[in-house]
Amino acid sequence: MDGHLIHLNREEEYSEGASRGRSGRVEGMDKDLLQLVFDNMYNGIYIADGQGVTLGVNKTFEEMSGIPAEELVGRSLYDLVGPDNYFSGAASLVVIERRAPVTATYSTKTGRKLLVKGKPIFDPDGEIRYIISTIWDLTVVQYQQEIDADMARDHLLAEEDIIACSDQMGQVIDLALQVANSDSTLLITGETGVGKSLLGKMIHRASARKDRPLMQINCASIPESLIESELFGYEAGSFTGADRRGKPGLFEMADGGTVFLDEISELPLHLQSKLLGVLQDKEFFKIGGRRVRTVDVRLIAATNRDLTRLVAEGRFRADLFYRLNVVPISIPPLRERREDIPLLVSYFLDKFNRSHNTYKTFSGELIEHLSRLPWRGNIRELENTIERLIVTGSTGERLLFSLVEGEEIREDRPLPEQLAEFEEKILLQARRRYGSTRKIAAAIGISQASVARKLHRIDMEEKRGNGK
Ligand SMILES: Nc1ncnc2c1ncn2[C@@H]1O[C@H](COP(=O)(O)OP(=O)(O)OP(=O)(O)O)[C@@H](O)[C@H]1O
Ligand SMILES: [Mg+2]
Repeated sequence: MDGHLIHLNREEEYSEGASRGRSGRVEGMDKDLLQLVFDNMYNGIYIADGQGVTLGVNKTFEEMSGIPAEELVGRSLYDLVGPDNYFSGAASLVVIERRAPVTATYSTKTGRKLLVKGKPIFDPDGEIRYIISTIWDLTVVQYQQEIDADMARDHLLAEEDIIACSDQMGQVIDLALQVANSDSTLLITGETGVGKSLLGKMIHRASARKDRPLMQINCASIPESLIESELFGYEAGSFTGADRRGKPGLFEMADGGTVFLDEISELPLHLQSKLLGVLQDKEFFKIGGRRVRTVDVRLIAATNRDLTRLVAEGRFRADLFYRLNVVPISIPPLRERREDIPLLVSYFLDKFNRSHNTYKTFSGELIEHLSRLPWRGNIRELENTIERLIVTGSTGERLLFSLVEGEEIREDRPLPEQLAEFEEKILLQARRRYGSTRKIAAAIGISQASVARKLHRIDMEEKRGNGK
């Protein structure tokens, strides 16, 4: 085990720099003690130099990644990263590119999921001297028991990763990690597509509950009459039409784990009271049940609406709001953290190039252009836009620009034709923004069925057009 830290101490200047001017922190700690601290930290630590060469990892990192230090130390991260390599990505390499702290999640070839916060340490000339990465384990052990390593890997690679470099997101993720292990109720707020669901999942996986279920439900997408039975289940024979054997609810299935209630603002008032009861007493009754049930769940709720306003309007229970709002986590819209845009663009470009087997790149000009757009649908819209650019934008960047910008209005063509085209654009933009037909319907005020029908027609026409 000795030797992981050798490089750290060999660099005389570094240890001098670390102790000089900050007396009391390192002075008096000998090398063995530092090594002991290094290896016994709760987090994994990965140290690379300014070129991306691995200088050392601590014992915790070896344990959480399942990769021995010998396989990493002395090797360049550029050689360790790739779809069939040790790591699916590396925060350190992004740190080198951006010269700023970066947070990202990655999977490893050993079937682990890691959250990495990489931080550059500069030398007096402003060059990156070291990159110190602190690592959290987000692996869910269940996967590995059920399926073999290859499948676990594919599964992990298909999962959505988080990546961010803005201060605002850095703070959000820090807060999320701080509270992950407490059992307090969390309320995640933010516009559509900012990453609320993704963060909720990350919090669950950073918590001690990670090997128990994360049960997710969207309160807006389930008919009001069914939400109660979805959440709390019902006893055998409790109402006509119900399954005779009864049914467990989400809370029961999540026992020991986490319940994620998306779009909590849409929860009907009478269920808000019932939910409050569960939060306060950890007890509830199933529908038609007389026996009180106890559960141990952590609740994470999310909303893109202003709950304080709904409380003022009497549409959301104040006591529930206060109960939920113990730790508010608010994710800022993408347009308020534009530094994240180029980073996300290259992340999604890479992801979709991989899945579509293409090798497209974007010019600096296009990336700049993308960085200036309002992104009302936030990261979801950015992600969908990039996928669309990759799939359809094979004929040069003029076309790419027009896809994200919208074209000028012309009056020398039949109106119905232009209207149809305009309708198509609205629908496609709404799809990039909102993702689901339900959300699109709510946003543009037509029925979900017509949204689905119209989009289907557009897709069919496009297919025919592409096949020509
Ligand atoms: N920081 C990030 N890095 C990479 N991908 C992200 C990030 N944030 C969000 N995404 C991606 O953007 C998409 C939208 O995220 P998500 O579904 O979590 O948003 P949301 O806030 O829950 O939206 P809604 O309010 O509509 O439910 C997802 O595909 C998600 O993987
Ligand atoms: Mg969501």
